Amino acid sequence: MKKNIQLLDDFVYTVMNRKRKQLAEQGQEMEKEDILSRFLLEKEKSYSNIDDKYLRDIILNFMIAGRDTTAGTLSWFFYMLCKHPHAQDKIAREVQTVIKMQDGEGKAGIESFSDYLTEEAINSMQYLHAALTETLRLYPAVPLDGKCCFSDDTLPDGFDVNKGDLVHYQPYPMGRMKFLWGEDVDDFRPERWLNNEGIFVPQSPFKFTAFQAGPRICLGKEFAYRQMKIVAATLLYFFKFQLWDSSREVKIRTMLTLQIDGGLHLRAMHR
Ligand code: HEM
Repeated sequence: MKKNIQLLDDFVYTVMNRKRKQLAEQGQEMEKEDILSRFLLEKEKSYSNIDDKYLRDIILNFMIAGRDTTAGTLSWFFYMLCKHPHAQDKIAREVQTVIKMQDGEGKAGIESFSDYLTEEAINSMQYLHAALTETLRLYPAVPLDGKCCFSDDTLPDGFDVNKGDLVHYQPYPMGRMKFLWGEDVDDFRPERWLNNEGIFVPQSPFKFTAFQAGPRICLGKEFAYRQMKIVAATLLYFFKFQLWDSSREVKIRTMLTLQIDGGLHLRAMHR
């Protein structure tokens, strides 16, 4: 444990020092303001109470919270799309339509594609948004989340908990409960998130708990959607995907986050 913590600390401090050096060299002319630079600039202010250890924890928190969650969700998403080719085609068509509207000249090439992936374009990909959300319902990146009671309390259903008790809420089973989602709970159906006009309609975060709910809801939720939509739209615009071995059963790797055991092996073909 000690050795592993040291490994993580060394990594984070190296990242921090590199950025510090970069900032000193480039000063206010820094082209891209990433989150670490913002904290470092904040830290320099006289009233700031951010010390190096605190900053290390923030950076580590963002890395832990932001990497495996989106990466794992994208694996499950492509797994779902291979199992449901009609949904895969529908997303590809949606991306093509949106990009064509921006481009106005037929199929954009890889060089120009990212220019058309504007905020407006990403926001108008409603079916893709629904398909990612449906993936998270069935395969929430944080399948089980533990909390420690700070004081004796009574839960809304009357259940008493005591100070120090460990309580879990469980997005994985909650996403598969018939009384919450209906008889077709086991089906991958992005349409359940869309209204008649094809617009995404969010559910209460206390029902769809993949990002947690309340004041400590995931800080990176919107960022995560944007990141996943950019990756998914780019890949699906240019490629069609199939499972490398459709007879291989996909298994869950039990970790803090929900991963596919051994990774997901795909065959990619030009669209
Ligand atoms: C599919 C993607 C993601 C899912 C499903 C997800 C889910 C969650 C969940 C369940 C929590 C609550 C954990 C707890 O009990 O404390 C959380 C917290 C958090 N997430 Fe995410 N997350 C995702 C992506 C991201 C990304 C990309 C970032 C940042 C770049 C991020 C930043 C955070 C932070 C900073 C917290 C702590 C918030 C706080 O304690 O106030 N997350 N996330």
